[in-house]
Amino acid sequence: MDEILKLMLSRHSYRGPYDPNRRIRQEDLTMILEAAQWAPTAHNMQNFEVVVVNDKQMLAEIGNLPVRLSESFLRENYAQLSFTEEEFRRRRTGVLASMFPASWTEPGEWQPDGGGTLSQLAFLSRSMQDTPLLLIVLYDTRRRAPASEGDVLGFISLGCVLENMWLMSESLGLSLHVLSAFSGDTVEQQVKYLLQIPDFQRIAYACSLGYPAPRKVEYLRVRRELQDFVHYNRFGNRDLEWPAAATESKEAKSK
Ligand SMILES: Cc1cc2nc3c(=O)[nH]c(=O)nc-3n(C[C@H](O)[C@H](O)[C@H](O)COP(=O)(O)O)c2cc1C
Repeated sequence: MDEILKLMLSRHSYRGPYDPNRRIRQEDLTMILEAAQWAPTAHNMQNFEVVVVNDKQMLAEIGNLPVRLSESFLRENYAQLSFTEEEFRRRRTGVLASMFPASWTEPGEWQPDGGGTLSQLAFLSRSMQDTPLLLIVLYDTRRRAPASEGDVLGFISLGCVLENMWLMSESLGLSLHVLSAFSGDTVEQQVKYLLQIPDFQRIAYACSLGYPAPRKVEYLRVRRELQDFVHYNRFGNRDLEWPAAATESKEAKSK
């Protein structure tokens, strides 16, 4: 298999524990940051900052921050869930319910008016899994990609930064987990306070990074087939036909 495709296929979301005995090497961290540096961004705006957190005390303080799940998160999350591996394989999109605590996936447990039951209230440490390092990606709200409604192009650029760092981490044997909770209302404000991030910077996402613990945790990963999302020449047309090559048609004419 092509090396680059192999790397892309092996890149995955790591949701298991990190190995507390293995430190990330400075050279590896630098390469991951260089991968961010060379990410494509709309108009080469380079509309991001990265805060690297490896201070144990700071990681512990961040981990102690509570995350309250909104009803809309629970509902929209629920719509993406498969409850068995068989259903997950069939749907080919979304996530397995077993990834989440039952209280996040059982509508009977939702308490829309009370702001969540105790078990719906989590702490950031739950998803940080004792990570030795966080990469927190910020963007400047005062700038946007030219003529980009809602700065969509700016956000796509932040995605390119993420993928570059993710692939580099994977190639170095480091596991990465995206933590969207860092951009949630109250969490974002509290993390910004702890890290002295200026007001005009927003948190796009955070990534936990580290070596996976020796006990490997395997996840079922699914994707749609190419024919489920690729259209040729017209939306809905699943068959690709190549125009006759220029050289071929010249040869055909001379015959
Ligand atoms: C922008 C973005 C935000 C994500 N946020 C989270 C998150 O908060 N928690 C989580 O467990 N996974 C998160 N993920 C990971 C996706 O769930 C994951 O990429 C998807 O399920 C496919 O699995 P794979 O990464 O193993 O291929 C995020 C991914 C992206 C690209």
